[in-house]
Formats: sequence, structure tokens, C-alpha cells
Amino acid sequence: MPLFDVYPLYEVTPVSGKDIFVYDDKGTAYLDLYGGHAVISIGHAHPHYVEAITKQVAALGFYSNAIQNPLQVALANKLEALSGCKDYALFLCNSGAEANENALKLASFKTGKSRVIAFKNGFHGRTSAAVAVTDNTNIVAPINAQQDVTFLELNDVEGVKRELEKGDVCAVIVEFIQGVGGLDQGSKAFFEQVDALCKTNNTFFIADEVQSGYGRSGKFFAFQHYNVNPEVISIAKGMGNGFPIGGILIHPSIEAKHGMLGTTFGGNHLACAAGLAVLNTIEEERLIANVNAISNYFISKAKSIPQIKNIKGRGLMIGLEFDFEIGNLRKKLIYEHHIFTGGASNKKLIRILPPLTIKKEHVDQFFEALEKALDHTDS
Ligand SMILES: Cc1ncc(COP(=O)(O)O)c(C=O)c1O
Repeated sequence: MPLFDVYPLYEVTPVSGKDIFVYDDKGTAYLDLYGGHAVISIGHAHPHYVEAITKQVAALGFYSNAIQNPLQVALANKLEALSGCKDYALFLCNSGAEANENALKLASFKTGKSRVIAFKNGFHGRTSAAVAVTDNTNIVAPINAQQDVTFLELNDVEGVKRELEKGDVCAVIVEFIQGVGGLDQGSKAFFEQVDALCKTNNTFFIADEVQSGYGRSGKFFAFQHYNVNPEVISIAKGMGNGFPIGGILIHPSIEAKHGMLGTTFGGNHLACAAGLAVLNTIEEERLIANVNAISNYFISKAKSIPQIKNIKGRGLMIGLEFDFEIGNLRKKLIYEHHIFTGGASNKKLIRILPPLTIKKEHVDQFFEALEKALDHTDS
């Protein structure tokens, strides 16, 4: 049976990984500045993570959400402590799209409304409501287009105010740093005014932290760079370091009701063991401090490369914008210099999303390779 051919693939076959590197089937080491799409937070095959998952799968890999699961409670408590999101409640699922799906559903249940405000160039996933609030018509099927969504420009406070005052909006969903779109950010005033407008219009402010969360922005959550209080925070990618796990943090003002949300696999024992190992490592290895130190180092090096016209993003979610399309440059970096980087819908921008354990020597390796690749790239 062939694989359904939906992914354009690079000719590389990674078979193992260690911290910032992945190794292909021929033993070649690749520097991973893509983190498998911002997923690898504590590094590939981290010993604490491997041990925690190995022990858990040997004991109990899965049981349903019909029984007591102390691992879920431990994960929720550790997440509250590290994120500073005091008294928020946790609902666990399996992916970023599912997290946003649940966030939007909860907003609609609780407000009794159904229209959503989302932003141009935003990405929130590929399932029903999540893809409907994603600004990319190529991935929205007719069945998804039935949802009632209004797309506005980032920073259009007046637009948000006008739409919320119509009284039918259940949620405003935003990425505080746009990932797939290309690392654009709204202004501080915009985010804070939208938060306030949501509070006065019985509308949920949903922070999509699927990519920017778990320390990647230099704070536990990217929204914490501002004075805002989202009703729901969606999380996934860095949460399991590759083990599929997602979730939403729900503001203490929002009451649960049995049966309101649910999932078979979400919050299973193995996923919780992975999630706990990630949080323990972020704490013990002070990875958020590392994000800030390496981010500054990376940005100062990027500033010295004349071909880089614009540096976007924050922390270890960085975009390097050139004045030419970077498809060939990324291929050179992979095939000639053995470095993975990410792309974005902005075709002139390279996305840097490394494991949060990255060190200065890896940044040096990247910039040496980039300078060589730029010398030989036809723009
Ligand atoms: C901001 C954001 N939200 C949601 C998603 C969807 O996550 P998943 O692919 O796990 O469904 C992504 C994935 O790239 C994302 O970047």
C-alpha cells in the first residue's frame, strides 16, 4: 500500500538522535535547527525522558479517562508551577489542532455564541474549527468553511472592537508569535486592548501557544511578554518532546461539566510520563534562561550577515528574512552542510526552531555554514 502522498520530502532518513543532532541511515550527523517543527524541546533522546517513558510503558502505557490517573494530576501541578498560570485547569488531548478545537468548542459552549475572530496569516491546525480559523484557503475544505470566522489584520484594534460589539463572537484566537505565517507579532498595545475588549464583550481570548509555548519565546508562554489573561491557552508541540500530547489551560472562572469535553487517548499514562519528564528537564536544566542567552547570541550573529534583511520572532523562534526565496538555500544547508532549518509561508524567510538545549557552538556551526552557503547561492 503506498503512503498517501501529501508531504514533499527531503532525501534524508534520520534513524537516531542525540540532543541537537539527528543521524541518518548512513551515520551522517545533521544539526537540528528545526526541532522536527518546534517539537523537540529538551533535545533528542534526553536520558531522563528516555528513562521515564521506558519505565512507564513497562508499567502501564495506557488506560482510559474513566479511572484515577495520578500522572495527570502531577503533570497539571508541575505545569501550573512552571508556567505561573495559577489556578488554571488542564484538559489533555493529543495534538495542537485538537487543543484549539477544544478551546474553540469551550468558548462556544460557555458564551453560547459561535463566530470567531482570527488573524491574517495565522495557523491553528487542520481539523474542523482549527482549520476554519486558519488563514489559508488551500487547506480549508468546503466542510470546514461552514464555520463563521472573520479574519482581521494583526494590530487592527478598531476591527476587533467593531466585530466584538456585534455581540455574536465567542472567541478571539491569536498566536502571539505567528509560526507558520513567518514570525510576525502584534504590538503590545494591540494584544492588551484585545484582551480587555474580550473581557467586556463576553468573548474568550484564546492564546494559541502550540508552537510558542513551553519556553520557546524566552518566557514559559509568549503571551507572558504582555499584560493579558487569556481564558484558554492551547499547548502541544514542545510539551512531549515528540511524544504526541496536547492540552488546554482553562481560566479558573470557567466551570467544567462532566461530558463537556473528552477523548480516548488524551492524557494517557505514557503521554503524561513524557510530559512530566519534559517539564522536569526544563526546570532542572534552566532551559528558559538558556533560550534567552542563546537567542541574544544568535541574533547578534545574524545582524552581522548583510544578506539577512530582517530578523523576526523571539527567543528560539526566530525568522531570518532575505530579499530572495530561500528554497535553494535551505536545500544547500541540508545536503551540503547537514543542517535542518524550517520554512514558512513567507518564502523569503528561514525559521529557526532548535531544541531549547542548543549551545553557542551550534550557533557558530550554523553561521559558518550559512556564510558559505550564501556565497554559493544564486538568489
Ligand atoms: C500555532 C499552531 N497552532 C496549531 C498547530 C497545529 O498543531 P498540530 O499539527 O499538532 O495539530 C500548529 C502546528 O504547526 C501551530 O504552529
